[in-house]
Amino acid sequence: MNIRPRRNRKSQAIRDIVQEIWLTSKDLLYPLFLVEGSQQRIPIKSMPGIYRLSLDNILLEIEESLKLGIVAFAIFPAISEHKKDKYASESYREGNMYVEAIRTIKEEFPQIVLMTDVAMDPYSSDGHDGLVQNGQILNDETLPILAKMALVQAQAGADILGPSDMMDGRVGYIRQELDKAGYTQTSIMSYTAKYASSFYGPFREALDSAPKIGDKKTYQMNPANKREALLEAQLDTQEGADMLMIKPALAYLDIIHIIKENSNLPLAAYNVSGEYAMIKFAAQAGCFNEQNAVMEMLLSIKRAGADIILTYFAKQAALYLKTM
Ligand code: PBG
Repeated sequence: MNIRPRRNRKSQAIRDIVQEIWLTSKDLLYPLFLVEGSQQRIPIKSMPGIYRLSLDNILLEIEESLKLGIVAFAIFPAISEHKKDKYASESYREGNMYVEAIRTIKEEFPQIVLMTDVAMDPYSSDGHDGLVQNGQILNDETLPILAKMALVQAQAGADILGPSDMMDGRVGYIRQELDKAGYTQTSIMSYTAKYASSFYGPFREALDSAPKIGDKKTYQMNPANKREALLEAQLDTQEGADMLMIKPALAYLDIIHIIKENSNLPLAAYNVSGEYAMIKFAAQAGCFNEQNAVMEMLLSIKRAGADIILTYFAKQAALYLKTM
């Protein structure tokens, strides 16, 4: 045998010098759940180790994460039921809890990348990402609501807006409204291929945002489809997205790969709540070493082509990378 691949695996040092990709804390974007009040730290049953935090605790969490080398964060608000309505009007009310939190976070930590969520569901009494009428999710009527929400978030200082709703044409619509208002430097990371997935279950518990009626299959993508993701990527790119995102990550590594091969935009992947829960509960049941499983999973997402990984494991992974 003159070719023996095992020679390149004979020691840790050899394995290190031939390693094709490395995960760093700069690859990670840490999603956080915001609740009203102060000194709140409410556990989420289906996501052990993750909490709904009030703003004071979010600031502490960001400070600790920065020390570990994480520079990017996304905030998702849990809105009390009585503030929800059909039009998600709380979402674009100036001075609402979410935009005030964004403003405070950027004042405290101007150096970070702060991403926001543009979608109706946390504020919608229907629990959908679009306006519901007679059981239909209206597309074009939803766009102005998203744009108004985007605008208050941009005004509060968000660096990147993340439309997670999957309405057609929303990236272009939001881009145009931002530019008209002078926010030409506010970026858009589009949820480009967001699949109608079971793996969002724990997130919906975290935000109490599950659809009241029906499911999200008329706007989120069919898990069976790959070429359709290329179409979505093409549209978002034409409409002016700065970055694309695939979601979920783990069951969609082929989608991450094909978009990476076909796009010149930075690519993110969202390692979603259900993927977090799978690892946590399996590790608790003694199936494997949690830390090793986390690193293997995150590495696989990067290897598939993600430049940025949104993950609830961000802090845990960054801590591990620092001590490695
Ligand atoms: C909805 C939204 C969802 C997630 C992010 N934004 C859930 C959904 O579409 O119902 C899921 C994130 C996760 O599961 O971690 N706008």
